[in-house]
Amino acid sequence: MTGHGLLDIEHLHVELPAKVRGDAPRTVIHDVTLSIAPGESLGVVGESGSGKSMTTRAVMRLLPRGAVTTGDIRFQGHSVPGFTGRELADFRARRVSMIYQDPRAHINPLRTVGDFLVEGVTATGVMTRPDAVEAACALLRDVGVPDPARRMAQYPHQLSGGLLQRMMIVMALLPSPELVLADEPTTALDVTVQSEVMAVLAEQIRDRSVGLMFITHDLDLAAAVTDSLAVMYAGVIVESGPSHEVTETPRHPYTAALLASRPSLSSVRKLSAIPGRPISAFEAGDGCVFASRCAHATDICRTQRPEPRTVGGRSVACHHADQLKSVLGEVAAV
Ligand SMILES: Nc1ncnc2c1ncn2[C@@H]1O[C@H](COP(=O)(O)OP(=O)(O)O)[C@@H](O)[C@H]1O
Ligand SMILES: [Mg+2]
Repeated sequence: MTGHGLLDIEHLHVELPAKVRGDAPRTVIHDVTLSIAPGESLGVVGESGSGKSMTTRAVMRLLPRGAVTTGDIRFQGHSVPGFTGRELADFRARRVSMIYQDPRAHINPLRTVGDFLVEGVTATGVMTRPDAVEAACALLRDVGVPDPARRMAQYPHQLSGGLLQRMMIVMALLPSPELVLADEPTTALDVTVQSEVMAVLAEQIRDRSVGLMFITHDLDLAAAVTDSLAVMYAGVIVESGPSHEVTETPRHPYTAALLASRPSLSSVRKLSAIPGRPISAFEAGDGCVFASRCAHATDICRTQRPEPRTVGGRSVACHHADQLKSVLGEVAAV
């Protein structure tokens, strides 16, 4: 497989040690392959427990102790698992930034927002403090924060959740990274603030040609701000391709079910939840990970894991993707 250049995850498999000694290790990521081209935005969408955060932690080499990883993760062609200590430090300080779900969990309430903003880049020697303060003020204006100097002198409790998350966007962009990993960056916010903050992040990412991995459970939000989507279920990418195609004509029953279960403003369609509960990768047997909840599953789905293949311009891991084309198209169009 030829890589896209910025981030290439190939056949990533992650196992975590069992919680109880003597139990088998738990697979949390299974054979995940995805790519982000320079400046590209990729949405990774899935329910809770599907392995989205573990994927970002694997990229940052921040997996829980005892994790066993196979496959490769390449950044600009260089193998991340093969980085020396110095290369890893540079990777984390200058190349890739993380934005987390809940800024308040990552910010010291006793220090000013400004101190918090600049301490990353000054501690790693990316910028001097005066340069960092100046750059932070300019970035704050870019993300729509008026009077940035006053804001930087304030304490976290004086800022709204939306404003605090704009601060986190600024902190992520300060070292001029090539890639931003945003793990549910707006999930803790009100819905209207969510879309505002996401629009700001998407605009900044586009203007600077920064690559983005946007992790979310919200397929519509992801489709609105990304070039491509990867739909994840139980540690497996079940469908991936251009965002508008994946949401307009889903080819995997799980993608179609996600689309059918979302609330819609334009119709009175009722919220039809997907029957059953989401499973984790280690609970999936040999068959398709979605088989136990899939309305279209047959014997082969329960016994044999479908390999991803190209259907309708994207990659789909479903034995019946070809036959289901018309059926799933109708579901999404309802
Ligand atoms: N620290 C951990 N130790 C063991 N298992 C974990 C840990 N964190 C998450 N998991 C398990 O790994 C799987 C994937 O989790 P995660 O990547 O956090 O999902 P998501 O971000 O998609 O909600 C889940 O089954 C979860 O229970
Ligand atoms: Mg998560």
